[in-house]
Amino acid sequence: MATILALETSCDETAVAILCGGKLLASEVASQTKEHERFGGVVPEVASRNHLVHAPRLLERAIRKAKIELADIDAFAATSGPGLASSLMIGASVAKGLAIGFDKPYLAINHLEGHLLSPFFEEHGPDGTKSKIKPNVSLVVSGGHTMTVSIRGVGNYEIVGRTVDDAAGEAFDKVAKLLGLGYPGGPEIEKLARNGDPERFDLPRSMLDSENFSFSGLKTAVRYLLPKIGLIPNRDRFSGESFVSAQDGKLLADLCASFQQAIIDVLVRKTIAAAQKYDVDLVTISGGVSCNTALRAQLRQACADVGLEFRSAEPWLCTDNAAMIAFAAMLKLESGFASALAQEIDPNLALA
Ligand code: KG4
Ligand code: ZN
Repeated sequence: MATILALETSCDETAVAILCGGKLLASEVASQTKEHERFGGVVPEVASRNHLVHAPRLLERAIRKAKIELADIDAFAATSGPGLASSLMIGASVAKGLAIGFDKPYLAINHLEGHLLSPFFEEHGPDGTKSKIKPNVSLVVSGGHTMTVSIRGVGNYEIVGRTVDDAAGEAFDKVAKLLGLGYPGGPEIEKLARNGDPERFDLPRSMLDSENFSFSGLKTAVRYLLPKIGLIPNRDRFSGESFVSAQDGKLLADLCASFQQAIIDVLVRKTIAAAQKYDVDLVTISGGVSCNTALRAQLRQACADVGLEFRSAEPWLCTDNAAMIAFAAMLKLESGFASALAQEIDPNLALA
């Protein structure tokens, strides 16, 4: 059973994980949310400087937790794209350096492939029993990506539909910012939406006849709705203060619920349509937005309604982490794949 150490530094999370067979020996994540919150989004220069500080510390902690030596690692992996160039470079350089130093293989992993395969993580038994990646249609929904993908096996992917503008998570983050809520916006909106009426406001469901997605019109619709319903957009993005008064509470909850439902309706409909078109029995979901309880529940129900199996990654595996990168690396290593040390990071790395 191979032991793999993986680093993930594609955006604002620094992560290191060690996986032995199907057994996760360590998974360390340092979030930089606090560092970026006051800017209302991720600042690349700030992210890469933080990766430089966090990566060596997490590496040391992961090794200690896994109770192994670096010399015991059989392969070193890192996310090589897509993501922020200056951030990707840190994880890839560390993994390559270790691979050279210990004369072991290096694996450059696509961040999206990490998300895509994560719903199968639990399947790979700690005893080394292998995951069966059943053909499926997968919905990847994160802060940077929204796509449906037909998966036929490891490394065999076809993109069915993708966003033509904002990603679903980006829409959550931008609308949360408009509403004076914190970053990342998804969990904040979900919390408020729990007490709201999803039918109170009629918001657009764009491009329903296409396999692709579009969420920027929805964000604009919320922006124009705010003054009409008496909520004034937060103009001071540095103050961090919410403009919403106590009596606006119900209005805000209803708006969050209506916005969230508009996103869910589109994601569920297109995912089911893609699964039927590709004639698969299984639908999977991954990425940060798939932490959303309402989305998971509604997609699960929609799958059951048409006789499809549904599988999601555990919430801790949905947001960015290195365990999913180690898992993808292990599946690739098992199929005989290794990357050249000369392989560069690629901020626009394609999945298929
Ligand atoms: O996968 P991820 O950690 O990073 C990227 O690869 O982008 O996803 C982060 C995104 C953010 O946009 C965040 O607002 C969203 O996932 N997110 C959520 C929830 N939790 C995180 N969106 C909706 N509901 C949630 N509960
Ligand atoms: Zn991600």
